Amino acid sequence: MLLKNKVIIITGASKGLGVAMAEVCAQQGARVVMAARSKGLLEELESKIKKAGGEALSVICDVSKPADLKHLVESAVDAFGRIDGLINNAGVNYVKSALEVTEEEWDRVMAVDLKGSFFLTQLCARQMLKQKDPGGSIVQIASVHTHASLEGAAPYDAAKCGMVGFSKAVAVELADKGVRVNVLSPGLCRTEIWKDIVAAAPSESECWDYWNANIPAKKLIEPEEIANACLFLLSDLSSSITGANLMADHGMTSLLVSREPYASKSIEGG
Ligand SMILES: NC(=O)c1ccc[n+]([C@@H]2O[C@H](COP(=O)([O-])OP(=O)(O)OC[C@H]3O[C@@H](n4cnc5c(N)ncnc54)[C@H](O)[C@@H]3O)[C@@H](O)[C@H]2O)c1
Repeated sequence: MLLKNKVIIITGASKGLGVAMAEVCAQQGARVVMAARSKGLLEELESKIKKAGGEALSVICDVSKPADLKHLVESAVDAFGRIDGLINNAGVNYVKSALEVTEEEWDRVMAVDLKGSFFLTQLCARQMLKQKDPGGSIVQIASVHTHASLEGAAPYDAAKCGMVGFSKAVAVELADKGVRVNVLSPGLCRTEIWKDIVAAAPSESECWDYWNANIPAKKLIEPEEIANACLFLLSDLSSSITGANLMADHGMTSLLVSREPYASKSIEGG
C-alpha cells in the first residue's frame, strides 16, 4: 500500500474528482479527511469507505472561509494526530467574457481557487513541519488552463496560474524540510463538466468529433486516472519531484493547433 497510515486531507470531496481521490487514497491505506460544504454526500462517502475497511472523516468546510480551514486542520489532527498529505481539489469553474466580469465574481473565484488553496497549504505545511517525522506532500489541482487559455476563462485561469506560482515558491522554501508541493493539471475529465458540454452541443457525436480532433488519446480522462496521478504525487514514488506542474491531459497540451492536415511532400520522410 502506497499511503499506509498516512493522513491525507482532500477538499471538494463530495463529488466529481474528489470522490475518486478519497476512494483511491483510502484503498492505498490512507486515513482520509474529506472536506466539502454539503454534509449528506460526504457522510455517504465516509460510510462507503468505512464499510470497505478504510478510515475516513468528514468535515464540513467552505475553503473560502479561513476559520473553516483552521477547523479542518484541527479536526484532522484531533482525529488522527498528524497530517501527511493534502489535495487542494475544491474549485469553481467560471466562464464569462473578461469585459463583463464583476469585482464580486473575480473575488469569489480567487477566494475559492487561489486564496483557499494557499492558506490551506500554509496551515497544513505548518503542521507537517512541527510533527514527529516532519514532512509531507501537497498537491494542487489546477488545470490545462495553466498551459494555455480560452476566451471567457480569465478569473479561473488567473486563479489556477496563481496556484502554480505560489506552489513553486512554497516548494522552494520547504524543499530542504521534507515538504513537497506539486501541481496536477487535468485535461477534460468524465465529470459533471462533460455532461454540461454534451448538453450544450448539437449532438453527442458532433461533440465527440470535436474533442477527438483535440485530444490525442481521443478519450476523456476518468476520475480514477486523476486520483492515481495524485497518489503518485502524494506517495514516496515521487520523492524527487517538487515544484512541478504535471499535465494529466491525454496529450492535449502537447498538440500543435497549427498542425498540417495533410502530408507535405517537401518534408523529408513525410
Ligand atoms: N472535471 C474536469 O474536467 C476538470 C479539468 C481541469 C481541472 N479540474 C479541476 O478539478 C477540481 C475538481 O473538479 P470537478 O470536475 O470534480 O468539479 P466539481 O464541481 O464536480 O467538484 C468541485 C468540488 O469542489 C467543491 N467546492 C466548490 N466550492 C467550494 C468551497 N467554497 N468550499 C469547499 N468545497 C467547494 C464542490 O462542492 C465539489 O465537491 C477543480 O479544482 C477543477 O477546477 C477539473
